[in-house]
Amino acid sequence: MGEKFRKSCGVDVKELVAELNKAYCDEWLAYYAYTYMAQAVSGPGAEDMQEYLEKIAKDELEHQDELADMIIKLGGTPTVNFADIEKNANFPYPMPPSKTDDYARIIDFVIAAEAGAIEVYRRLAKMTFGKEDVVYQLVTHILGEEVDHEETMENLR
Ligand SMILES: [Fe+2]
Ligand SMILES: [Fe+2]
Repeated sequence: MGEKFRKSCGVDVKELVAELNKAYCDEWLAYYAYTYMAQAVSGPGAEDMQEYLEKIAKDELEHQDELADMIIKLGGTPTVNFADIEKNANFPYPMPPSKTDDYARIIDFVIAAEAGAIEVYRRLAKMTFGKEDVVYQLVTHILGEEVDHEETMENLR
């Protein structure tokens, strides 16, 4: 699959697959953490906060899916064993705050996680800019959505 694509790739395919795989693992962790928070959130504004977290979690799951697709097209294998997800990620699991009704904390927690994601996709964009158009397009699309997530949470402060 994707043989011409792989052979004409303007950057080292192995290195690129490794970076995309790390981002793939980050997305799983973010999806898990945000979904967990959406389920656990409590207090007076819980329904609204739940909705925001669910929406963002859904985007992270989409990113995970888009990255898996790209890794496979490049001839790689997305991390198979769930036990390896945290080990292969760029960052440790973003541990949600234990106080489920502390919105300021929840917002800060999401903003910190999004800052990490923005850094990762900026790096991937720099790595592929002018060299690998298809991957560049994907990572900048994801980057744009991570910026939206940051913005959504900043507006709740
Ligand atoms: Fe994401
Ligand atoms: Fe995000």
